[in-house]
Amino acid sequence: MNNIKLDFPILDKKIRDKAITYLDSAASTQKPKQVINSISEFLENSYENVHRGMNSLSIDATDLYEKSRDVAKNFINSNSTNEIIFTRGATDSINIIANSLAEHLKEGDKIVVTELEHHSNYLPWMNLCKKLGLELKIIPISKDGILSEDDIINNCDDSTKVLSLTHMSNVTGQILDIKKIKKSINKDTYVAVDGCQSIAHLKN
Ligand SMILES: Cc1ncc(COP(=O)(O)O)c(C=O)c1O
Repeated sequence: MNNIKLDFPILDKKIRDKAITYLDSAASTQKPKQVINSISEFLENSYENVHRGMNSLSIDATDLYEKSRDVAKNFINSNSTNEIIFTRGATDSINIIANSLAEHLKEGDKIVVTELEHHSNYLPWMNLCKKLGLELKIIPISKDGILSEDDIINNCDDSTKVLSLTHMSNVTGQILDIKKIKKSINKDTYVAVDGCQSIAHLKN
């Protein structure tokens, strides 16, 4: 643990003469020096328009940008770099997905989310449902904060066009068996998975 801490320069900082104990990584993760150095190195030596210029800097920047797509692809075991899309974050991504699905949805269709979602996985769907006259079904958690996978499966019927759910809750840490859920519902239902927390904590 002490070795890992050495990678995070901000943890050297003292506040009111006390060392920092940082416990808010679920909300915002501090950056290790490898990330800071690599961003700084890129800005100092390689920054240019990506995919928009024919000069050497632009060609190098494009090359680095595309190589990072490959790194992301391998990290999440994706089949192709064509599946890797860079966005500004999860909220941006979910808004893009919701807005892109709008043309495939019509009044009366149902969207299912869960009570365990981060706000960024409610609001885009809530807005879409209001705009298009869709039904939004929010699967509740138990009084102990547990979400039942069976409840999710049983609430996905033929009118359910989208199921959008977290893989690992940022509040309770509950992990959902996405493969099981996906196998148990109509195969035409679009399934959007918020992997913000699981990407850092799970192997697959
Ligand atoms: C589970 C989960 N989903 C979505 C978000 C929102 O992510 P972003 O800040 O990238 O929009 C967070 C942020 O903490 C999160 O923990």
